[in-house]
Amino acid sequence: MSPSQSEPMVYDLFLADEEATLALAQRLAKIVQPIDSKIHIYLKGDLGAGKTAFTRAFLRALGVTGRIKSPSYALLESYTVSSLNLYHLDFYRFNSPEEWVEAGFRDILEESAVVLIEWPEKAGGLLPPPDLYLHFHYKDEGRQLSITAHSTKGQTWIKTLTQNN
Ligand SMILES: Nc1ncnc2c1ncn2[C@@H]1O[C@H](COP(=O)(O)OP(=O)(O)OP(=O)(O)O)[C@@H](O)[C@H]1O
Ligand SMILES: [Mg+2]
Repeated sequence: MSPSQSEPMVYDLFLADEEATLALAQRLAKIVQPIDSKIHIYLKGDLGAGKTAFTRAFLRALGVTGRIKSPSYALLESYTVSSLNLYHLDFYRFNSPEEWVEAGFRDILEESAVVLIEWPEKAGGLLPPPDLYLHFHYKDEGRQLSITAHSTKGQTWIKTLTQNN
């Protein structure tokens, strides 16, 4: 696995239980912080696969206090830690790709902020590529997770994750 901008770097791992999902989210939060402020992570996987569980632990580890609600209904939950904005979005309820543009979410992606999006595929091809795609698959009692980097930054994070195993 050598970092290059042309081919995405992939890291596959098995998360045996929820604890493993939360631990990985905490590890990744340590890696991305505090140097990078524009952080885009998209989370794919079936209902109940672990996207919100991961995001909650990730946001918590980045310093979000108080309740972290799933954005399944509100579509967007936002947080601020010091001067950093963090956005957790869920596009599950979108019926057409144009809806995310109409909802006014495009500006969020231009901000120097942490942005996590569940069900990004509901936006069709309208979303820019993230730093990382996290794809959760049901496997036995746990989850198989495939992490793909789509930016140089994302590649660096994966490299650090695999090195600190
Ligand atoms: N590695 C794991 N192994 C087994 N269970 C897990 C694992 N990680 C998380 N879970 C459990 O799976 C469920 C994940 O629910 P969560 O709300 O995070 O799913 P989601 O992917 O956000 O679903 P939705 O598409 O409905 O938003 C929780 O009950 C959590 O305890
Ligand atoms: Mg969810």
